[in-house]
Amino acid sequence: MDRSSTKRGDRWSRRDLLHAGAAASVGSFGAQIGARRARGENRMLRTPLCDLLSIEVPLLQAPMSGVVTPPLVAAVANAGGLGILPGILVPPDELRAQIRAIRALTSRPFAVNLLLHTALLPPADPAAIPDDVIARVHRTLNRFRQRLGLPPRAERPPRAPDFVDAAFEVILAERVPVWSIGLGRPTLEQVERCHRQGTKVIAMAATVEDARELAASGVDVIVAQGSEAGGHRSTWTKRLTPQHAAVGTLALVPQVVAAVNVPVVAAGGIVDGRGVVAALALGAVGRLLKATSDDTVITDVFTGMFARVIRNEFTDTFAAEAAPVLPPFAQALAASDVTAGSAAQGSGEFYALYAGQGCGGVRDLPSAADLVRRTMMEAASGISALSAFARTGG
Ligand SMILES: Cc1cc2nc3c(=O)[nH]c(=O)nc-3n(C[C@H](O)[C@H](O)[C@H](O)COP(=O)(O)O)c2cc1C
Repeated sequence: MDRSSTKRGDRWSRRDLLHAGAAASVGSFGAQIGARRARGENRMLRTPLCDLLSIEVPLLQAPMSGVVTPPLVAAVANAGGLGILPGILVPPDELRAQIRAIRALTSRPFAVNLLLHTALLPPADPAAIPDDVIARVHRTLNRFRQRLGLPPRAERPPRAPDFVDAAFEVILAERVPVWSIGLGRPTLEQVERCHRQGTKVIAMAATVEDARELAASGVDVIVAQGSEAGGHRSTWTKRLTPQHAAVGTLALVPQVVAAVNVPVVAAGGIVDGRGVVAALALGAVGRLLKATSDDTVITDVFTGMFARVIRNEFTDTFAAEAAPVLPPFAQALAASDVTAGSAAQGSGEFYALYAGQGCGGVRDLPSAADLVRRTMMEAASGISALSAFARTGG
């Protein structure tokens, strides 16, 4: 791109800013940088996203369910990024308490994330699952139970709790600054209700078509989730195979930027950001630091939805036995005693170690605050180096 043709004084044209937003709004975290310092050091990296969400640096922390707590959300917010609280399957009263705990630690904007997967709206009835499929899934799970000293089980999993609507009402009632959505699309009415009270809406898509649908629903920001990303594929229905909705970040982000008219945030494989947060979160299972990018797989064996995790005995046994998998959420509920037992015993072999392909690049465990600062400084010096390269022609 010819920069001189697009730069007007100190201002970039809107389209360029959107592209800058896409490139810079990657990854995640970091440090307790004072607001002024952040502004000074990262002037180059302020993007429209910062103004839109009233944040200092264009970094979003991944809403990692089971991992991110109110203090971490507040630490990221205080560092100038957007901290996001995961709200999936959190009972509404507990969600309200967590939102208030964040507010006690920061006065800066933050987000609450809900999953709007169709299997939760309303929760699918497990009565429809054939008996023999349930029996075969438990046959494999019972091998894990035996290894963990847990009693064998054979029963039909319960229906997932119906929390989504109540959680949305809590987000509105608490006037949360940003509603973040994964694995689903909001209704026009939901977006309107948010906008009426000044709550911004961001939503994640793994394909260009889904990003277009999200844009049509009126969301303010779209997160383009590349296939490198750890955790679940952000689709509203389960795709046929793990190869569906699996476009790499490098290919997906520019196509989404071209397809929609709102700022785009890149997610997936950004090792100085969300991958590091996953490492902080999973630090107890020390192997993450030793994992290589090649250790992750996309599998549905933990929840019934496709997600990128670190391979372990659970994933390998399901694959080797070609065991069936129950529908979204039913699989997670059928295996919940195994995954909880594995975590309680400190074994990383029988629960989901959600991690992206970037995990191979994670080598240390800085604080959230340090990580925001380091990420922004690395990004700023990378941009300087590139412009020097462009000036001198290498
Ligand atoms: C441990 C873990 C838990 C996650 N939980 C959620 C979640 O609850 N809601 C959500 O929208 N995305 C969740 N994600 C996906 C992230 O939003 C994001 O797409 C991903 O972390 C980005 O890719 P990266 O892991 O390569 O940085 C999770 C990711 C990880 C690694």
